[in-house]
Amino acid sequence: MSAKPVNQNLADEAVSGVDRRTVLKGVGVTALVGATGLGLSACTEPRDTGRPDEGEAETVDAAEVPVGSGTILDNYVVTQPTEGDFRGFSAICPHQFCKVTVVKQTNIVCQCHGSEFDINDGSVTAGPSLEPLPEAPVTVNGSTIEVGGA
Ligand code: FES
Repeated sequence: MSAKPVNQNLADEAVSGVDRRTVLKGVGVTALVGATGLGLSACTEPRDTGRPDEGEAETVDAAEVPVGSGTILDNYVVTQPTEGDFRGFSAICPHQFCKVTVVKQTNIVCQCHGSEFDINDGSVTAGPSLEPLPEAPVTVNGSTIEVGGA
């Protein structure tokens, strides 16, 4: 057995120790990036990729649109902030294009990530959406409300 100087043995161990640490760090970083990538991928996946067909108007009976609230149709939301004042919006959340699912008090709610929009003008009242719900034209024909179809 050849005896290495003590300093040489320490240097060999230090080099191999660095190599092991480097490999372990690389594995850890790779695992972290992979996990994060999966997380981001899952977060960015819209649950409903449908966008409103802006050529298709929808109708609803005015009695089905509560005052101070609204009704969600297939592609649009019709609201009635005050009696007789009907407003229309796309039902597709501008955040990641889920369909909004409920009108809660004076907010139109997207339950995918929690964005909320004001029934008066579609403006964002709670994120993460940074964009308002797009407005849609509304026509009142007697007791029938037509929305969209512009
Ligand atoms: S799609 Fe994310 S909050 Fe609506």
